[in-house]
Amino acid sequence: MLTVLKLGGSVITHKDEPETVDEESLAKTCEVIASFLAQEESEQNSGRRHQLVLVHGGGSFGHHHASGHGVTSTEGTEDAQVLTAIHRAMGRLNDVVLDALHDQGVPALPVRPLSMARRDKAGLSFPADQFEAMLSEGFVPVTHGDVVVDTDVGGTVLSGDDIVVSLAESLAADRVGLCSTVPGVLDESGAVVPAIDSYEEVASILGESESTDVTGGMAHKIRQLLQLDVPASVFDIDSLERFLQDERAGTVVRG
Ligand code: IPE
Repeated sequence: MLTVLKLGGSVITHKDEPETVDEESLAKTCEVIASFLAQEESEQNSGRRHQLVLVHGGGSFGHHHASGHGVTSTEGTEDAQVLTAIHRAMGRLNDVVLDALHDQGVPALPVRPLSMARRDKAGLSFPADQFEAMLSEGFVPVTHGDVVVDTDVGGTVLSGDDIVVSLAESLAADRVGLCSTVPGVLDESGAVVPAIDSYEEVASILGESESTDVTGGMAHKIRQLLQLDVPASVFDIDSLERFLQDERAGTVVRG
């Protein structure tokens, strides 16, 4: 079983303070992941392990630097120093996430998108071989939203959501989870919508062009998740354990 799980930037950082980690939330997240992996392994007599790929967002690391330089997923820059600054900020956050996972005994390894991915007219090209190799050795690859070289515009922001969709397809994941600070997609009365099968069902709640950060908001997320062949759940940290245990968590998007 292969799970692709994204930890939203707002789960692991304090979004309003530049480069601040939400230590408590990050530690809790890593603890839940570690105990799930340990439980899976102890139940496996055949030596089969649960394969997990983690993707984390930018929060107050990536978004802070990207918006400061006017770089978004469509507005590019040819300034190598700017791209490097954003990439380095994401590297600092990736280091913190790896340390927190290692503290809990999770065999996490970093994968840095700028060095391997690119975007052109045909879309995102994000090779998955490195992930496959790491997974088959029992590691947990941990990649992140980043900047990416983008034909004709220099470099743009690559969101963790885009990476999740690409990896879920190329690795033929069994399920996808997006852990953010909202308990799911909320309807007009604030209740979690249990399942979404088409964008039309939620267009009136989400609007056409909601955008809360440089890579778009919930509307964009749902549109992307609807493209997948496997179920994708959107939930908050309180439901992370439920999601991992394969219980209903937040909103399930079925493309
Ligand atoms: C953004 O990634 C990466 C950068 C800004 C460089 P995401 O768009 O996935 O981040 P969050 O989850 O919204 O913080």
